Amino acid sequence: MKVIERIADLRAALAPHDSAALVPTMGNLHAGHLSLVRIAAERGHPVIASIFVNRLQFGPSEDFERYPRTFERDVELLEGAGCDYVFAPTESQLYPEPQVCFVQPRATLADTLEGRFRPGFFVGVCTVVLKLFNAVQPRVAVFGKKDYQQLLVVRDMVAQLALPIDILAGETVREGGGLALSSRNAYLDERERAEAPRLSAVLQRIEQSVRSGSTDWARLEADAAANLAAHGWQVDYVAIRRGADLGAPRAGTPLVALGAAKLGGTRLIDNREIVDPAR
Ligand code: PAF
Repeated sequence: MKVIERIADLRAALAPHDSAALVPTMGNLHAGHLSLVRIAAERGHPVIASIFVNRLQFGPSEDFERYPRTFERDVELLEGAGCDYVFAPTESQLYPEPQVCFVQPRATLADTLEGRFRPGFFVGVCTVVLKLFNAVQPRVAVFGKKDYQQLLVVRDMVAQLALPIDILAGETVREGGGLALSSRNAYLDERERAEAPRLSAVLQRIEQSVRSGSTDWARLEADAAANLAAHGWQVDYVAIRRGADLGAPRAGTPLVALGAAKLGGTRLIDNREIVDPAR
């Protein structure tokens, strides 16, 4: 496995290959990321994992500076997972000058939920993802369903810009108690770690209620948010949406229950798909 920092070197290394599969990451890798690498490898293309903590997608009061950076360990994990190239650009490689051109994602997908609580987040994500796509020119790219809204926003960007890239989705990987693996779990202290699985539990309860026929979306959302708040969470949203486009839920269509809430100083997000609502 080769570690490459510069776009020119990456292009030279990839020139002999006629295809590539990209797994974009911000590092601090866990089993969830490694499962995406395995999905990429299954396609038979050389696998490139990028590691880049993208300043553009962090708000001014967010955790860009303290975001966990564990480069050496990440490289070891990627090697073990069958990655062929690590693309780890410096900030000056990806942003050689202040960025003035941005990708503006579709508002109905990007300005709700995460976009409402993290203004500019998806502009930052789409802009860096497009840059990574341009640097790597992959045939496929793999994103985790843990960031469900991000997956839809990226898929939509790819369709809108007619990029010749298949976007594959990896299932969320969870700890035994249900907590979705996330780099930000590292911020949780012992007490918070014990409490953290509640986010996935309340979303799972929504899933079960909808499967049992409940369509009182507002009540289900409010009950879940109240449960979290009663246990010390500061809730940004719990929302039931259509799985395909995050529109208002309709009985009988695939749905997704999404949540974001802060536990102490740590903001966690999670979601549960409800693919067969009445089963
Ligand atoms: O999901 C992430 O880790 C990031 O948003 C991504 C896709 C690597 C873009 O910086």
